[in-house]
Amino acid sequence: MDIPERLAWLRASSEGRSWLEGLPARINRCVGRWNLSLGGPFPTAYTSLTIPGRRLDGTEVVLKIPFPGRESEHEALALSHWDGDGAVKLLEDDRSLGAFLIERCVPGTPLSNTGQDVALDVLSSLLPRLWKPATDPPFRSLADEASWWASHLRENWERAGRPFDKRLVDAALDVLGSLPGSQGEPVLLHQDLHGDNVLAAQREPWLAIDPKPLVGEREFGLAPVVRSFELGVGRNEVRHRLDRLASELGLDRERARLWCVAQTVAWYSPWHIEIATWLLDM
Ligand SMILES: Nc1ncnc2c1ncn2[C@@H]1O[C@H](COP(=O)(O)OP(=O)(O)O)[C@@H](O)[C@H]1O
Ligand SMILES: [Mg+2]
Repeated sequence: MDIPERLAWLRASSEGRSWLEGLPARINRCVGRWNLSLGGPFPTAYTSLTIPGRRLDGTEVVLKIPFPGRESEHEALALSHWDGDGAVKLLEDDRSLGAFLIERCVPGTPLSNTGQDVALDVLSSLLPRLWKPATDPPFRSLADEASWWASHLRENWERAGRPFDKRLVDAALDVLGSLPGSQGEPVLLHQDLHGDNVLAAQREPWLAIDPKPLVGEREFGLAPVVRSFELGVGRNEVRHRLDRLASELGLDRERARLWCVAQTVAWYSPWHIEIATWLLDM
């Protein structure tokens, strides 16, 4: 099986190389364990090998083998917590294989293809369903994650050659120091609910995939949607997402804005950082 080009970044580390090298054997073990016939991998995966397939009884499934990491650690657990309510069902999970099977979304078109306001209609009803009561442990808490981000944010920024304005580092550290201690009710949060992580399906019109779960207040849950350039690029689009969701879901707009700045800086990527700059002055 050809490994998608988007996973090439993993070749830069020894952990990544050894994970890539182990994939063929691991895929074979999954095929044997769950009696799968597999197609070619989805080319869009970036932190996992994700492959459509079929079980012996004809059920359409997706085999997901995430590159192990802090964010993906509890992915299968989050799916099992949702139990198919607004998200794909977890069908099998084998931690020793580092792989799990999920329900396949057919046709699987990403929500980002629908246009921003239709997508926001969907997300406005999906988010409250995903915000189920949950505890840490077993999940990681937003407060712990925030203090972990704060512990290395400045150092990472220096090491990366100061790739963005220092104002953002200071603002993010401010948020990470001040918001965790005054949160509202803790719920299960999907940290990566961007416009390509909600897919058209049949059991429900739209299902969430690819959770990077945390437990914390609802306002944080707007961050991935507000940041999602997949839903529309530009300052006005970002403001519109923040305003619409905060008002429809009855959330504190200011906390949602600040969480989004902090998570966007902590998850630094060149494609998102401009959004954090816009958010500073909104
Ligand atoms: N349950 C599913 N049904 C249909 N397609 C899926 C499913 N899960 C993943 N995919 C496809 O695989 C791609 C990568 O999966 P994803 O879980 O988002 O991995 P990553 O963590 O690497 O982003 C998605 O963008 C989508 O195209
Ligand atoms: Mg994804």
